[in-house]
Parts: sequence; C-alpha cells; structure tokens
Amino acid sequence: MNVTRWPAEAIWEAVFAVLPGFSVEVLPEIDSTNSELMRRARAGQCEPVLLVAERQTAGRGRLGRDWQSDTQGDGGTLTFSLGLPLQPADWSGLSLAVGLSVVQSLHPELQLKWPNDVWWQGRKLAGILIETASAGTQRYAVIGVGINITPRKGDGLRTPPAALQELLPEVDAPEVLHRVIAPLVQAVLTFATEGFAPLRSAYQARDLLAGQAVVCTDGTQGTAMGVDTSGVLLVDTGAGTVRINSAEVSVRPAPAPPLNPS
Ligand code: BTN
Repeated sequence: MNVTRWPAEAIWEAVFAVLPGFSVEVLPEIDSTNSELMRRARAGQCEPVLLVAERQTAGRGRLGRDWQSDTQGDGGTLTFSLGLPLQPADWSGLSLAVGLSVVQSLHPELQLKWPNDVWWQGRKLAGILIETASAGTQRYAVIGVGINITPRKGDGLRTPPAALQELLPEVDAPEVLHRVIAPLVQAVLTFATEGFAPLRSAYQARDLLAGQAVVCTDGTQGTAMGVDTSGVLLVDTGAGTVRINSAEVSVRPAPAPPLNPS
C-alpha cells in the first residue's frame, strides 16, 4: 500500500489541538509499532505520536503472545500504536477505555471481551496491547491496536478471525484509522482525568462475558458479573465474588458441560 494514501494530515488536524506536539508517522514496515515506541521512550523520545505500520514483522500481543497480522502489507490488517505521556490516578481501566472507544467508533454490534479484545459473532476482530515506560516524572503510554480489516481464509482447522469488512464492506485500513484516532485520543485524555467510572455503563453494554461461565488463567472459575468502577472483572465463583485484575489474567469462556447421555 502507498503510504501517501493514509490520512495523516487530517488526523493530525483533528488531534493536535488537544495533544500539543502530536505527530503522525506511517512506515511501510517495522518489527512492531509498540516495540518501536517503547525503544524511543527508553531513549528519551516521549512526544505524543501516532505510529502506523503497513506491515509488522514481529507484532506482539498480550501475555507474551505473537500478534499475527497479514504479512503482505496490503491493508488486510490495520496496525498502529499511539504513544503519549500520561498520568492517570489509576491505570487499571485504561485498556477497557481504549477498547470501548475503538468499538464505539466502528460498529454497534462489536463487543468487548475483558479486558480489551474486540469480538464479533464469536470471533476476535481486534486486539489491544498497552505498555508503559517511565518519562521523567510521568509515564509514557504506548497503546497498540491491531484491527482485522479484510477477511482471512481459515487454515481448515481453525475458525478464521473476524474482519471489519464483514460488517462494513466498504471500509479500508486508512479510513478505519481516520475514524478511530481522534475519538481514541480524546477517550484516553478523558480517562486520565476522570478514570473509568463514567465509562462503566457503556462498557457493560458491550460486555461479551457478562453472565457467562468463565475460566481465568489464575484458576478462578465462575460466572462473569461485569466490572467494577475501576474496570476490575468480577467473577462469582459460587463461594463469593473474586476480583480479577487486568494485569494478571486473561479470560476464556468455560467449556460447555458434557451432554447428559440419558
Ligand atoms: C492481543 O490481542 O493480544 C493484542 C494485540 C495487539 C496488536 C497490536 S498491532 C499494533 C501494535 N504493535 C504490536 O506489536 N502489537 C500491537
């Protein structure tokens, strides 16, 4: 894809007034937009920036996983990271606020799988990876987002992930970037001053796990009961409510109980 197709100037114009010093950069290829902004932050480059890559050679996901996106750089996946200095009173709901902003910018049918995956019709459509580095007295947040734009073929064994063109056939990666960024910047800045509490009911309306049986990677099993005012997942285990912190676990629906053969 030609880098000049990206709406870098329009995005800059929509954002710079609320984020002084903001810049937009589009690269044809990099290992990972998150890794690049983390390297820059550790080297003291802590200005607000949107870094878009047409192709990532070593995309990263949460919990040390790889993030496999299209390797052609043909716009099949939108991959970007937003880096900015940030000092919220409580970081714990940031990933939920980011996911919520992304789904609100894209489509009413999109849902959030705690803490911040975007799902549609039982398949993952987008992922979010948030990292931070120290930046003087503040911290520098790197908010990485990968969104599947065009449908990928399954490998015959696994269900392919969802793609935005299944819901919005006309969209392409540059247009999605344009739709998402200004509201995302505003959501992050508002989160920094107001926290997650004002977003809680909007999050609950998109909550894929609410009322579902879940198994957490820390071993907790039970029924997901939504989130509290800091974005902590509440799981009813039958013996009480357990609070699950986004930094520690991921959640998958519990397997269905075996069918009664009688
Ligand atoms: C996940 O689902 O586990 C999170 C995936 C995050 C992927 C995005 S793509 C842009 C940014 N750069 C990365 O290496 N990862 C994030």
